[in-house]
Amino acid sequence: MEIQFASKEYSKTIKDGSVTYQSPSNIALVKYWGKYGEQLPQNPSISFTLSNCHTVTTLHYKKTDNANENVTFEVFLDQKLAPDFKPKISAFFNRIEPYVPFIKAYEFCIETSNSFPHSSGIASSASGMSALSLCIMDMERQLYSEMSDDYFRQKASFLSRLGSGSACRSIEGPLVVWGKHAEIENSDLLFGTLYPYEIHPNFTRYQDTILLVDKGEKQVSSTVGHGLMHGHDYAKTRFLQAQKNLSTLIDVFKSGDTDQFIKIVESEALTLHAMMMTSHPYFILMKPNTLEIINRIWAYRENTGSHVCFTLDAGANVHVLYPEHEKEAIHEFINSQLSKFCQNGQYIDDHVGYGAKKV
Ligand code: DP6
Repeated sequence: MEIQFASKEYSKTIKDGSVTYQSPSNIALVKYWGKYGEQLPQNPSISFTLSNCHTVTTLHYKKTDNANENVTFEVFLDQKLAPDFKPKISAFFNRIEPYVPFIKAYEFCIETSNSFPHSSGIASSASGMSALSLCIMDMERQLYSEMSDDYFRQKASFLSRLGSGSACRSIEGPLVVWGKHAEIENSDLLFGTLYPYEIHPNFTRYQDTILLVDKGEKQVSSTVGHGLMHGHDYAKTRFLQAQKNLSTLIDVFKSGDTDQFIKIVESEALTLHAMMMTSHPYFILMKPNTLEIINRIWAYRENTGSHVCFTLDAGANVHVLYPEHEKEAIHEFINSQLSKFCQNGQYIDDHVGYGAKKV
């Protein structure tokens, strides 16, 4: 039990109502890959908060007369009953219940929808879990006579983490750190914190176009993937490398050095995939089109002096990252050279954002 987030005596009661939050997805620059204990990361990570890729969740609640053993709820995705979502949300409720015990006394109806297609291969867990956590925190705030904004945000991130690690980085923006790093003040294992140092204007309006290379089901769930880092031959070195890369990024964010940014970000993406290729069992999550896109980005950079680069999640889709002033040129590059490697030519234009908001 993390005492700082234990619930206190509630001073008020609420009978019924509803609350809606919109929460964005995020894209890691230094990757979280490997966890221990109750959703604790083996290394610190940092991500850009996104904007257009988001989930909107409404939580309807109604007090019941008798406290239930398990939290009772229904979940709707795009207005349709979505029983497939129940096990994950049920596990989430069980995990957070010690910190928000009031949830047992309510019946919930969760209505959720994503701004991106459900089968796009874009993980909705970060935006979905953070939106739901914020709704629950909104209820808790009503039950206390006073709760500071800092506590609200931290605990929302803390609860999100218990749902999905990367979700704890979706509450605020533009840059969020999760995990302990000696040079980053207030960085914490238990929740994400807003990156506290100077950010050069180059990075505050960064663009991310997500190329949907493969919209299929995930080959490996992230929980299984993280598990593969236990006993991995390169794990220790990898966790140290993430610490070092984050140190280097502090200087990069300050100076605006996009060349150095590219080196770190692309290496992080390839290292994540290298870890999967060298674990047991091993996986290749890139597709031929992923490699084709990467090679074209490299050739384009070589030929034009552009600062476009890529990063990857645990899948085949490619996040194309570039400074705002290159927007027009990169859109033209994507349309003429990259979109043909996407399923049905599909991609999503996004950019750095400032976190979740109440709707
Ligand atoms: C490759 O946050 O999806 O996207 O904690 O098991 O839910 P769980 O994992 P998840 O892992 C994300 C891994 C990653 C890298 C990152 O976002 O840092």
